[in-house]
Amino acid sequence: MKYRSIRGMEDILPENARVWQHIERIARRDLEGCGYGEIRTPVLEDTAIFVRGVGKNTDIVRKEMYTFTDKKERSLTLRPEGTAPIVRAYIEHSLDKVAPRIKRFYYIGPMFRSERPQKGRSRQFHQIGAELIGTGSPFAETEVIGQLSGMLKMFGLKNFIIKLNSLGCTADKERFESKLKKYLREKKNRLCPDCKERADKNVLRVLDCKNETCIQAVRQAPGILEGLCASCREHYMRVKERLSKEDIEFKETGNLVRGLDYYTGTVFEITHPALGSQDAIGAGGRYDNLIKDLGGPVTPAVGYALGMERIILVLGKENALPEPIVVYLITLGGEAELKGAAIAARLRESGEKFRGTEIRVIKDIDGGTLKAQIKRADKNKATFALILGDDEIEKKKITIKNMKTGTQDSVDEISITAELTKRIKTSC
Ligand code: HAM
Repeated sequence: MKYRSIRGMEDILPENARVWQHIERIARRDLEGCGYGEIRTPVLEDTAIFVRGVGKNTDIVRKEMYTFTDKKERSLTLRPEGTAPIVRAYIEHSLDKVAPRIKRFYYIGPMFRSERPQKGRSRQFHQIGAELIGTGSPFAETEVIGQLSGMLKMFGLKNFIIKLNSLGCTADKERFESKLKKYLREKKNRLCPDCKERADKNVLRVLDCKNETCIQAVRQAPGILEGLCASCREHYMRVKERLSKEDIEFKETGNLVRGLDYYTGTVFEITHPALGSQDAIGAGGRYDNLIKDLGGPVTPAVGYALGMERIILVLGKENALPEPIVVYLITLGGEAELKGAAIAARLRESGEKFRGTEIRVIKDIDGGTLKAQIKRADKNKATFALILGDDEIEKKKITIKNMKTGTQDSVDEISITAELTKRIKTSC
């Protein structure tokens, strides 16, 4: 019997985990810097939270949840997303009564959806998400979108597109849904089997079906934006105005609807042209009714989630995956070996000095000739080898060999951190 991981759920091995940590580090630093505090909720929740929160007619709830009954006959679900659980926690801990009124939460963790696995779509995937709870101001959307767009750039991404739309308030949404249902009545036989069902149960989703016949069928459909009430139109206009003033590029996309029912008002999606059909690297929007719907006080909110697997995929496509700098410490002789260990420790401690560049200091353990150790430096993909022998010890020097160019020179041992910082900067 050969055991394998469950289909659609993957191991992340050290070489990849390094990239994950890099993304997580940037995300944590940026989100914390913008006043977001981390929230960690359990991966298992009461099924009803998602049925009520995400919506019983959504694809997620109807087809994709990992739901089971436990020994006490309770229906539990592995979280398919993070927003409904955070709202559950917000209500459970009465966070609306705790100052300040506006809360900023972020989370990083696994989500589970039983979808057909393909490139960029897995059954256990990971999200970085942020939720800004407690204000209906259009500046909440612009803050969230601004932070998100800045963070994607910090990851090293360039070619992403921010798509923007507004679904309007509940009344607008309902009015539009019945208009769309009416429009689709005569076109039903042209829809794909999924959309035939959606036309009754979740009609908005017909608008973003990727099937060519469905795209044709909705080509002349009424637009959402034209039907917005005055106050939703005004709110949406202020969001757009502010984004433009901040030079945050976006693409108004009238048929952008979301796969989760809780959205009202502004919705957005971040796509990347290098991805195929699964081109959304992240998405979010306003969910002003969710807290009330899950039993809490009326509280407006907005948030987003990014798919980490997809972010890493597009970083690869843009050749922007981070490469660590490996410094390999070679020592020749007993005294050098001891001194080398101290130098390695010193370099690791001054990690902060190399900010922005991940550095790894690996000290050779097996010893032997210079040639043998240089070979191992190469196997460890070293950028620089530091060589410490009797000659260096006597002169209080250390030799730096650039493993890419093969050049080497000696520097004062005391200034090794400063020297490396300088060379790392020019080698990046
Ligand atoms: P979502 O659009 O369902 O929204 O998911 C957000 C992102 O998670 C997607 O854009 C995608 O990058 C990633 N994702 C979703 N499903 C998969 C999958 N099967 N495999 C790989 N990546 C996937 C939400 O989850 C909302 N909770 C976002 C939000 C937060 N809205 C307000 N606050």
